[in-house]
Amino acid sequence: MTVGIDKISFFVPPYYIDMTDLAHARDVDPNKFHIGIGQDQMAINTKTQDIITFAANAAKTILTEEDLETIDTVIVATESGIDESKAASVVLHRLLGVQPFARSFEIKEACYGGTAGLQFAKNHVTLHPESKVLVVATDIARYGLNSGGEPTQGAGAVAMLVTANPRILSLNDDSVMLTQDIYDFWRPVGHDYPLVDGPLSNETYIQSFQKVWEENKRRNKRQMADYQALAFHIPYTKMGKKALLAILEEETEAEQERILSRYEESIVYSRRVGNLYTGSLYLGLLSLLENSEELSAGSRIGLFSYGSGAVSEFFSGNLVPDFEKALCKNRHHTLLDQREKLTIETYEQLFQDKLNTDTDQFFDDNTPFSITEIKNTVRDYRPF
Ligand code: HMG
Repeated sequence: MTVGIDKISFFVPPYYIDMTDLAHARDVDPNKFHIGIGQDQMAINTKTQDIITFAANAAKTILTEEDLETIDTVIVATESGIDESKAASVVLHRLLGVQPFARSFEIKEACYGGTAGLQFAKNHVTLHPESKVLVVATDIARYGLNSGGEPTQGAGAVAMLVTANPRILSLNDDSVMLTQDIYDFWRPVGHDYPLVDGPLSNETYIQSFQKVWEENKRRNKRQMADYQALAFHIPYTKMGKKALLAILEEETEAEQERILSRYEESIVYSRRVGNLYTGSLYLGLLSLLENSEELSAGSRIGLFSYGSGAVSEFFSGNLVPDFEKALCKNRHHTLLDQREKLTIETYEQLFQDKLNTDTDQFFDDNTPFSITEIKNTVRDYRPF
């Protein structure tokens, strides 16, 4: 029996800004954002769209009635939680209509949380092959207007259904994990935005990747040639490339070209969305699977997960025959293409228009699962 990703989908809010517009507004050369950072567009949400809105939309489109009756665990990975106690997955469980005898919880370790959820799901299904686990990585990445991190913001969710004998990617038992207590990016309780040491975060990301890659070679006796592609956590698309280049020196030119071409395919979506925090690695995986012509059944994909603070994991999965048929490429492309472009002025207004959950109020936003009401500090959501 294999265990892994049977279904996978993403959702991003219906608005974006163009990075050329942001560069002009910040008096920066647009090439810094497009080439230096590697971002073309950035997803923007209104205050009536939150991590539950994104999670519900990402999951709803892939789940059948049979899935809803079989899922026995709902996991939300996020670092943009809306409650210090109650897990977002409990609300998600109700909005989606998952059968009641399920466990629901939220996981946190910066951008690594999605991988923690995926590995929990894999272990659970290995023990209980008849069950299905829904894992949703959902976040709003914000650093503040005019801040150093502003061009690396983003918002959205990736939903994955983990089952026995999956139709997309079977996960291998080859994880190499690494924990280092480092303050490269953190958000103390009560702070709206993270505190970040940009250069240290870049450096820690790269050295973490080098460490788990070397350990993977040693423990699992694998070389670059054993991987059809590598997918990375993508805080901005230049980041994964920098880490990749740090280990590619020892490879032949042909091998470097092969793996860098796959990398370009893995960042097609992120270039248009920005950082999804917990979801970024899985948005990269989806981008690779839906935009590459070079992958085939049995191909091994290496995945590098990184969460500031810092926890990393390198692991792999193998593509299942006919994996293409289980993807939703057209829907994902349409979702990105149909978004509305905002002016920088509107983006700044939306950014400052914060949700006040201490005042009862109604909202009128047609986005499925958007917030319709605040009552007694509790958010209610538009049904699908
Ligand atoms: P910065 O100071 O704005 O940018 O910070 P810079 O001056 O370092 O320039 C960036 C790149 O643009 C450089 O290229 C420049 O040369 C180039 P590099 O040397 O890096 O290859 N550049 C240009 N290129 C072409 N034409 C030009 C031009 N000008 C400059 N005219 C930074 C950038 C990413 C640090 C900042 O945006 C930031 O702090 N972002 C947030 C932190 C972050 O994303 N860190 C990534 C690693 S940590 C991580 O992945 C975890 C995270 O997702 C959180 C979590 O785990 O929860 C963030």
